[in-house]
Amino acid sequence: MKTTTTTTLTLHFPLILFFFFLSISFPTPSFSQSDTYPILLNPRLGKAYIALQAFKHSITSDPNNFTGDWCGPHVCNYTAVYCTQALDDPDIYTVAGIDLNHANISGELPEDLGLLTDLALFHLNSNQFCGTLPESFADLKLLFELDFLDLRYNSFNGDVPKDVFNLKLDAFFINNNNFTFTLPDNIGNSPVSVLVAASNQLNGCLPRSLANMSKTLNEIVIQNSNLSSCIPPEYGELVNLTVFDVAFNSLVGPLPETFGKLKKLEQLDVAHNKLSGDIPESICELPRLKNFTFSYNYFCGESEKCSKIRRRDDRENCIPYRPDQRSEEECSAFLEKPVHCDAFSCMATSSPPPPPTPPPTAPPV
Ligand SMILES: *[C@@H]1O[C@H](CO)[C@@H](O)[C@H](O)[C@H]1NC(C)=O
Ligand SMILES: *[C@@H]1O[C@H](CO)[C@@H](O)[C@H](O)[C@H]1NC(C)=O
Ligand SMILES: *[C@@H]1O[C@H](CO)[C@@H](O)[C@H](O)[C@H]1NC(C)=O
Ligand SMILES: *[C@@H]1O[C@H](CO)[C@@H](O)[C@H](O)[C@H]1NC(C)=O
Ligand SMILES: *[C@@H]1O[C@H](CO)[C@@H](O)[C@H](O)[C@H]1NC(C)=O
Ligand SMILES: *[C@@H]1O[C@H](CO)[C@@H](O)[C@H](O)[C@H]1NC(C)=O
Ligand SMILES: *[C@@H]1O[C@H](CO)[C@@H](O)[C@H](O)[C@H]1NC(C)=O
Ligand SMILES: *[C@@H]1O[C@H](CO)[C@@H](O)[C@H](O)[C@H]1NC(C)=O
Repeated sequence: MKTTTTTTLTLHFPLILFFFFLSISFPTPSFSQSDTYPILLNPRLGKAYIALQAFKHSITSDPNNFTGDWCGPHVCNYTAVYCTQALDDPDIYTVAGIDLNHANISGELPEDLGLLTDLALFHLNSNQFCGTLPESFADLKLLFELDFLDLRYNSFNGDVPKDVFNLKLDAFFINNNNFTFTLPDNIGNSPVSVLVAASNQLNGCLPRSLANMSKTLNEIVIQNSNLSSCIPPEYGELVNLTVFDVAFNSLVGPLPETFGKLKKLEQLDVAHNKLSGDIPESICELPRLKNFTFSYNYFCGESEKCSKIRRRDDRENCIPYRPDQRSEEECSAFLEKPVHCDAFSCMATSSPPPPPTPPPTAPPV
């Protein structure tokens, strides 16, 4: 299909609103377009039928009977399945959304889901899906309409296919699963405005290439993900960022001075890492910064200007003139070990494998 960016946007916008209202009125699963007009079957609905039947058969438990009526070829009548006119052919209907949020379903995602080529919204948040993501998710020729991919709070494991970051998603939520992967170098290709990957095993690196998301990225939350590299200074290019949250990892090195360029930043949370050095004054001067949490690190100084930030948490660092800091012994034991940011593969120019040397382990707390 060929549409210009403008038509895609104008066509998508009402669609997004449509689903927004649908999800507000949730749960009223009786809604379906065919209540008001008959939908004629067509080859795309035929493919959707194959995909949805495969999906149904890979479900092992559906306590609220969401898929109980997933029978027969009229997929637009199925609970939680939404059809609209195809973007490239208004004469036919196609499956544009699946919303199974909070359905408490257990099962896996079959490869055949890749047949849902017009899907714009796929919500599976808060279920008990497990297994790995189908490779077909990442196939660019498929799923090219997908805007929102919400897989939060499941038990998915394994890799997130690298090509997912090439999809034209607007939002990507995978937090609170058991995914194990390293943020790939092509992450900079992703046009998402919101990326929430917290509480998975991301083992290691924050890639420099993330800086290439500067045109679109507004919020990034990667808490509690076993990250252990330095924070790339290139992130100062993410000028549209309002939220940067990498708390509860093992990040080392300084908080880059370049963060002073993030003029839209409102929330900055780097707490519970192993960061050191001084808090750059330029960060405390950011005009919109309202909440700056850097407790439980090894920072050794902060400017007087930092006290003007409405909410600031600087406890348990090594700042001699501030209350509630770590002991001198703890600080000197940690700070005497040098940090080599270059030791992390993501800080070099080449691609993943996990860093050759593990980061220094924290002294007991
Ligand atoms: C399903 O949809 C078709 C076509 O829109 C319609 O004719 C049919 O009555 C519907 N079936 C049920 C059980 O709602
Ligand atoms: C599930 O839904 C189907 C179709 O609506 C119905 O026939 C079936 O009895 C339901 N099962 C349970 C356990 O509620
Ligand atoms: C979801 O399932 C779990 C156990 O399978 C159960 O404890 C919980 O109450 C269920 N929640 C809902 C909303 O059905
Ligand atoms: C992740 O896996 C571990 C062990 O395999 C399990 O104990 C834990 O509950 C899983 N977490 C999630 C969110 O599924
Ligand atoms: C955390 O990441 C490191 C690599 O940086 C890896 O060796 C380690 O196994 C990871 N920890 C867990 C709990 O997965
Ligand atoms: C951003 O992308 C350009 C071109 O695609 C590439 O040359 C550059 O190295 C990337 N920047 C980073 C920080 O990866
Ligand atoms: C930041 O976002 C605005 C729209 O909110 C956009 O016009 C602008 O181009 C973005 N900034 C960059 C550097 O892309
Ligand atoms: C400030 O940030 C901390 C850490 O992210 C968070 O726990 C707290 O709720 C935030 N406070 C406000 C008022 O946003």
